[in-house]
Amino acid sequence: MCERHPPQSDSGSSYTAPRDAAPTSVYTQLLRWLEKHRGIIVVVAVLPLSLFFAAYIWLRLALLQYLSAGPEKHDDRVVQVQAQVKRWRQQAPSSRKLMCTSRPNWQSLSTTFFRKDLCHQVSLPLYDILSLDETSLTIRVEPLVTVGQVTEFLVPRGYTLAVCLEVAEATLGGLAMGVGMTTYSHKVGLYQETVVSYDVVLGDGSLVTATASNTYSDLYYTLPWSHGTLAFLVALQLKIIKIKPHLKLEYIPVRGQKAYCDLIRDVSGANDVNASTPDYVEATVFNKEEAVVMIGSFCDVPQKETHKINHLTSWHKPLFYKHVESFLSKGRDYEYVPLQDYLLRHNRGIFWVLETMIPFCNNALFRLFFGMLLPPKIAFLKFTTTPGVRAMTFTKQVFQDIVLPMNQLEEQINKSEELFDLYPLLVYPCRIYDHGQHKGQLRPPRKDQLVPGANYGMFNDLGVYGVPRAVLEKKPFDAVAKMRAMEAFTRENGGYAFLYADTFMNRQEFEEMFDLTGYEYARNKYHAVDAFPHLFDKTKPEIDVVEVGKQYINPL
Ligand SMILES: Cc1cc2nc3c(=O)[nH]c(=O)nc-3n(C[C@H](O)[C@H](O)[C@H](O)COP(=O)(O)OP(=O)(O)OC[C@H]3O[C@@H](n4cnc5c(N)ncnc54)[C@H](O)[C@@H]3O)c2cc1C
Ligand SMILES: *[C@@H]1O[C@H](CO)[C@@H](O)[C@H](O)[C@H]1NC(C)=O
Ligand SMILES: *[C@@H]1O[C@H](CO)[C@@H](O)[C@H](O)[C@H]1NC(C)=O
Repeated sequence: MCERHPPQSDSGSSYTAPRDAAPTSVYTQLLRWLEKHRGIIVVVAVLPLSLFFAAYIWLRLALLQYLSAGPEKHDDRVVQVQAQVKRWRQQAPSSRKLMCTSRPNWQSLSTTFFRKDLCHQVSLPLYDILSLDETSLTIRVEPLVTVGQVTEFLVPRGYTLAVCLEVAEATLGGLAMGVGMTTYSHKVGLYQETVVSYDVVLGDGSLVTATASNTYSDLYYTLPWSHGTLAFLVALQLKIIKIKPHLKLEYIPVRGQKAYCDLIRDVSGANDVNASTPDYVEATVFNKEEAVVMIGSFCDVPQKETHKINHLTSWHKPLFYKHVESFLSKGRDYEYVPLQDYLLRHNRGIFWVLETMIPFCNNALFRLFFGMLLPPKIAFLKFTTTPGVRAMTFTKQVFQDIVLPMNQLEEQINKSEELFDLYPLLVYPCRIYDHGQHKGQLRPPRKDQLVPGANYGMFNDLGVYGVPRAVLEKKPFDAVAKMRAMEAFTRENGGYAFLYADTFMNRQEFEEMFDLTGYEYARNKYHAVDAFPHLFDKTKPEIDVVEVGKQYINPL
């Protein structure tokens, strides 16, 4: 069986913290020293090594793509996947382990490390773009095509994905089985709304295509947020949009919480189903009372304004969030941004996470000499994660994306400050559609969350990334209790935690957040029950977060 660890304690928030629980060994001393000097270590060791690592990954991918022998061999590759599943099925049921893909954990962007070693691993070497249909505005791809790869293919042809993540390494299949959301989502919703069809290999080895309206529509609605626990994805068809090479990006600094929340709701179309909205909407909240709202629309750059073109992602430029912050003092302004730069604007700073690794990353001299090495590869950081570092990733830092209703944006920000007190916060507006009861893991939005006259509610991703103030000030910080409080707030308000990040819920709480009715039905109907782990087990952190959390409440 693909069993995980002993079940997690159900009382995550009610234990009393042992005051002297933090281990004080040579190891802790070392951790302390490393923490104090982490910026320098990252620069002299992590960045250069990460560069070699990136080169290795690039070469490996190029080789894999070369060996995969092109789109015309797609069907053969799918037959190979089916054959692996059929061979697995021939084993005695008692000795069969549950299945997962053989892609190593460190390659995935998820912050958890699922125990693949306990599963039967199936290889899915599917790296190709299959076809582009310019009439129906769709592209058909294999699941391991990355956002970077598809963007490089589409932008010169005048298109981009309707929901195109900012992280170049994210895979189109990973986003489909997990979740994706970007600054275009106020127009079209989550990534899953832009999927036209999924080709999947089921637990019995059969190949089916699921669309919203065919016999397999029950699968179509439950595959998103299923994290590879219903079937293996072998191809998908995605909606694309027409683009212009530039965006006019306007930065609007706003003072006063209600004022900036109202503006975000207004520009994203949360108040009016017929409002015409800009192509891209995003806000960065710098403190409770100050935010910069960004609105961008495709445009041609007027001849006399070419000096206002900004290549945001050039190596010597300030990190994007610092550039955005500067408008709080400079005042409202706009510039023209090449689309490629816009799409990857958060890449170099990994939003603002880089600052927690390299405190001086915004220094001009640093950027001049080391800017080209940014960002450190997430895969490299994961590859070199030790148990101590793993524990610190959730006890001394927060890395969460949470989907919450936008009519409660003020409460979200207040709650985040109460629990973590860290800024900036990221806000991406996003439609959540009402597809009906039990149509997928997300419930229909509540009545008061619907945009009047529409079949969707306006929600937003609240991105909380960074080091909580208590940790910065070397005070005790009970990460598990705080995270569980945030999850309780999310459940109460009909929101959802992204499952790529660490979760702290027990099974019952998980099922309060996600509606598993349709999911369990699909698992039974499509031979997934004894073929794939359950969604809860698949996405639960691989370590006992409650126990580990207790040991790291006090400052190191
Ligand atoms: C720095 C950072 C920034 C991020 N920013 C955003 C953001 O702005 N917006 C956003 O929406 N998300 C964001 N994410 C989260 C990201 O969307 C997820 O990590 C997403 O899952 C894509 O990652 P991946 O390609 O590594 O997928 P994986 O982690 O590889 O896959 C996701 C899940 O799907 C399963 N899976 C993958 N391929 C298959 C397959 N072929 N068949 C069956 N199952 C499969 C995997 O087992 C896994 O459970 C961010 C993550 C990081 C680390
Ligand atoms: C939106 O526009 C449609 C069509 O023009 C109209 O029928 C509808 O009443 C409008 N809805 C609202 C809430 O204004
Ligand atoms: C958020 O906090 C501010 C001040 O701290 C308070 O004035 C405001 O009422 C709070 N908003 C909500 C919706 O709780």
